[in-house]
Amino acid sequence: MECIKSLRGSYAFVAINKSDDKLIACRYKSPLILGIGDGEFFVASDVPAILEYTNRVIYLEDGDFVVLTTNGYEILNSGVKVERSVEIVPWGLEAAEKSGYEHFMLKEIHEIPKVIEDTLIEYVSEDILLDVSFAAGISEITFVACGTSYHASLVGKYVLEKMADIPVRVEYASEFNYHNIPFSRTLVVGISQSGETADTLEALRLAKKRGVRTLAITNVLGSTITKIADYILYTRAGPEICVAATKTFIAQLMVLYIISAKLSPISRSELDDFVLKLKMLPEKVQKILDEEDEIRKIAEKFANYENMMYIGRGIGFPVALEGALKMKEISYIHAEGYPAGELKHGPFALLGENTPVVACVVRDNTYEIMLSNVKEVKARNSPVIAVAGEDDDEVEKYVDFVIRTPSVDPVLTPVTYSVALQLLAYYAARKRGCEIDKPRHLAKSVTVE
Ligand code: AGP
Repeated sequence: MECIKSLRGSYAFVAINKSDDKLIACRYKSPLILGIGDGEFFVASDVPAILEYTNRVIYLEDGDFVVLTTNGYEILNSGVKVERSVEIVPWGLEAAEKSGYEHFMLKEIHEIPKVIEDTLIEYVSEDILLDVSFAAGISEITFVACGTSYHASLVGKYVLEKMADIPVRVEYASEFNYHNIPFSRTLVVGISQSGETADTLEALRLAKKRGVRTLAITNVLGSTITKIADYILYTRAGPEICVAATKTFIAQLMVLYIISAKLSPISRSELDDFVLKLKMLPEKVQKILDEEDEIRKIAEKFANYENMMYIGRGIGFPVALEGALKMKEISYIHAEGYPAGELKHGPFALLGENTPVVACVVRDNTYEIMLSNVKEVKARNSPVIAVAGEDDDEVEKYVDFVIRTPSVDPVLTPVTYSVALQLLAYYAARKRGCEIDKPRHLAKSVTVE
């Protein structure tokens, strides 16, 4: 305990003293849990690591110092004994197994219809059950997040501004500290699948320090973000083992759609209509999964390229960003997401027969101009793969391949298109023989700033 006083920064570690069979575990700003088994204990940074042995967990808090012996455990904080409640993790063991799939990533993509259903059961019945008191009196929303959760936030911006007419900013959590954001009547929303991303936690702490109301959207019960934010909404995706976020991204989108609908001034019948469209998403996604072989064939044709561009407009732009992130992180193909209109301001120079372009073509007010952008790309000899709705019989005239997805309301295309792009990345990475579930240099929870 003496040496802890001289430690600086964030840490979580275990130390063993062989001479007296004592194990010490402590944490500060890094995740650490204590699993309570049958006559045995476990220390880990994340629940899936111990699910095989127990689902009874203590989420340790900053400064906690656990002393484990064969007789039991004791938790101290600042030298004083403290009690921490034992939580029952609602995840079954099968959630942490591949269940016959080649990779966790593919299994987790295939769980998406169920994840959507579970989220809807949680927050929607005839009506939207979500309590939105976190938004009472606010005049704007600022999202803080990283990686895929940042892309979910960008989709949230489009949807909230369109449906609820609330101004929304989206900040990389790691940049939030450097911006002078006016805080009056702002709700700061931190989105984090793991609830342990250091940058997102720091951004929320900063918002709290400035007296701003905070909301966390996370997939992990008891994670650190839930200890910081004033309000918490859980996504119901179950544990995600693959480093690349797939089902948790879709679960985040679902929660954002539900918040937007609840805050929207739309009429009762429009709301019913929207809820119906949400409820049809599981079968729409299932159709993509049933026909994934078509996506596999396209992915395998493009697996040998070293550079790719993903483009989109409006709500298609964050979809392009997320598609590119998925491709780069698991296949190591250099993939960039761009607003389609930005290509002519520089990236055109990179186009050509060695740079395929994935175009996310949404049938809304961006459609015509997006088709023009696709033609511009083709004129520069880039092979083009379009992701489009099944009712779009125009786009195929201008591109080399079309990944067809079931028709949905344009606002919901981030769900269907993203599932298709997750599969595209998966099969390209598989063809390249990559370590899909554990890409090089990456961690599932990024607990350093
Ligand atoms: C996504 O595939 C990545 N693993 C990564 O970008 C991730 O989304 C990011 O690190 C944020 O994680 P979080 O949602 O747990 O905060």
